Amino acid sequence: MDKLVIRGGHRISGSITASGSKNASLPIIAATLLTGQGTFTLHNIPDLKDILTFSQLLHHLGVETSYSGNTLKVSSRNVESLQAPYELVKKMRASIYVLGPLLARFGHARVSLPGGCAFGPRPIDLHLLAMEKLGAKITIETGFIDATAPGGRLRGAHIDFPISSVGATGNAVMAAVLAEGRTTISNAAAEPEIDTLCKFLMAMGATIKGTGTTELEIEGTDSLNAVEFQNVFDRIEAGTLLAAAAITGGDITVNGVEPEQLKAVLKKFVQAGCSVETTLNSVTLKSPRKLLPTDVTAKPYPAFPTDMQAQWIALMTQAEGTSNITDKVYHERFNHIPELNRLGAHIEIRKNQAIVHGPQKLSGTTVMSTDLRASASLVLAGLVAEGTTEVLRVYHLDRGYEKIEVKLNSLGADISREKYNEF
Ligand code: UD1
Repeated sequence: MDKLVIRGGHRISGSITASGSKNASLPIIAATLLTGQGTFTLHNIPDLKDILTFSQLLHHLGVETSYSGNTLKVSSRNVESLQAPYELVKKMRASIYVLGPLLARFGHARVSLPGGCAFGPRPIDLHLLAMEKLGAKITIETGFIDATAPGGRLRGAHIDFPISSVGATGNAVMAAVLAEGRTTISNAAAEPEIDTLCKFLMAMGATIKGTGTTELEIEGTDSLNAVEFQNVFDRIEAGTLLAAAAITGGDITVNGVEPEQLKAVLKKFVQAGCSVETTLNSVTLKSPRKLLPTDVTAKPYPAFPTDMQAQWIALMTQAEGTSNITDKVYHERFNHIPELNRLGAHIEIRKNQAIVHGPQKLSGTTVMSTDLRASASLVLAGLVAEGTTEVLRVYHLDRGYEKIEVKLNSLGADISREKYNEF
């Protein structure tokens, strides 16, 4: 296995370009299943473990892909299987994204139930609710979701999500674009990744109104076409790099980002005392002499993202005072806290709230990654910790951060990747 060995105490400063968005790439790649006509050319797809896992799932279904220089070519002409097996789904919950497109195009899909997750229960009931509203008959047997569209085609319907879900909205939209008639979705996820998916589907020939909002209206069509598409940049990676500069007292420019997508996060950096300047596609952050404490609540977009919660907690360990960080999306997403405390942080957990008592001098030790963003928070802490921090099980980090140590080293960090045997 790989670990990151971080020699702390170096300022993260300079200029860097964000990678393509992982969470936008996954539904876009799934949406290529909606048509067998032509070959898709998808640009700015990050070179990540999750993208590889998703490509393996598509290969299993009979889809052809080739990947080079962040461009993924996909042809879904010869789909031979409508079944997503447990061996692949268990590696990545986002595999559920194949349900909507397969059902919409072929009238049938079998997808293994995804199972548990490192930060609490992550049900899929809203995905199933959306498919059922669109007319699908669903049974769950032997660990599989078996979904069939009577007569071979889904029918437009009104879907009112009781809570905002990125994945369920993505699946619902992908299913609705090939359904017969009109679909309306209330309380849709407005996250930029879903907006990007909708723009991709519109480029393929779908008719969608309200993209980027919580109310969507989709006019079903008979067929869609393969297209060339430029993926958006990764707002969470960008936010993490900004936090890396802020925690080490550095100054950074992150290029490629759309600052509007980071508005809630940038507002908190300003409250923490950072100076933030934006252009149409870049953010420049200058660190203050002393970081200030902030209260943050993670909620669906456009609020502060749950995917930045762990990194923000790491940052607030260095702020002069007490910060309260609440997660209203995932109430139990706090696996990073015991590990941050092992590095010397003083953080308490009360229900879905972390109380961070700063500033604390961190000192390097060996810590364990438990999930993607938790790992990112440990790397941030390692950058500022005295001595050497070893972050084990970096495969979690590799799922969502492209060449993270290479990027951070180019900005002044001292990180090496080394092999180790866990047992
Ligand atoms: C996506 C992101 C993930 C991010 C999350 C919230 C991808 C691949 N992953 O995950 O990084 O942290 O959005 O921004 O894009 N829920 C249900 N039933 C469902 C589905 C979800 O109750 O059927 C709940 C979840 O438990 C959670 C909330 O809804 O409390 C939001 O989850 P959701 O937006 O669906 O997250 P994902 O799409 O899985």
